[in-house]
Amino acid sequence: MRTKLAAGNWKMNGTRAALEELSAMATAADKGTAEVLICPPATLIASAVEQAGPIALGGQDCHDQPKGAHTGDLSAKMLADAGATYVILGHSERRTDHEETDALIRNKCRAAWSAGLKAVVCVGETLDEFEASNTLDIIGGQLASSIPDEATGHNLVVAYEPVWAIGTGKVPTVQQIGEVHDFIRSRLERRFGAGVGRSVRLLYGGSVKAANAEEIFLTSNVDGALVGGASLKAEDFVPIIDALN
Ligand code: G3P
Repeated sequence: MRTKLAAGNWKMNGTRAALEELSAMATAADKGTAEVLICPPATLIASAVEQAGPIALGGQDCHDQPKGAHTGDLSAKMLADAGATYVILGHSERRTDHEETDALIRNKCRAAWSAGLKAVVCVGETLDEFEASNTLDIIGGQLASSIPDEATGHNLVVAYEPVWAIGTGKVPTVQQIGEVHDFIRSRLERRFGAGVGRSVRLLYGGSVKAANAEEIFLTSNVDGALVGGASLKAEDFVPIIDALN
């Protein structure tokens, strides 16, 4: 009942030449039933629209205010105007590099929803927190504080990205991923009711590649992936899209 989602986060990678990668990804997206989303640098969104075909486009962040004196920032409406339908919020790199708090992420979510964007809210524990067996406490806190009450299965996607798995080649076991995803699902059901809680898609992110995608996608409550490095090139991302179909 939940549409699978293969999402790529290009982070601060790519100039216009990188958009060539989209055509093979679009062909893969056309073939299957899984939804495909690419979040390129915001500078590329408007020019990506043509090549993207069935691929949805998203931003990697937005401001929590609709407009104003915020040099260098982008509003959710600007992303939507450029052609985005999604925005990633609360990525651990934003939480670390820009000291983003759960409260700010919650406000950004509301801003995204006001502009008609779907929010992909990222949660995840650090290595220290993982080693101290605090994963579920951390995730529970981030879910409670980063997601506004108005969440629905349409406007929200949650991505579980253990910070220690991002770009490191280290991946939790599928049992660990399943445990966290089951926990997220139960928290969403408890807070928003079974209807909404069961319809929100849950993505795993952190060193996903063709070699491990299939196993991860068979895991309980995993509805897709948020992929960094392996989403930059079609030859790496297409097998991940295919694994979801
Ligand atoms: O948002 C996706 C990301 O943080 C995962 O990155 O390179 O480990 O797939 P990567």
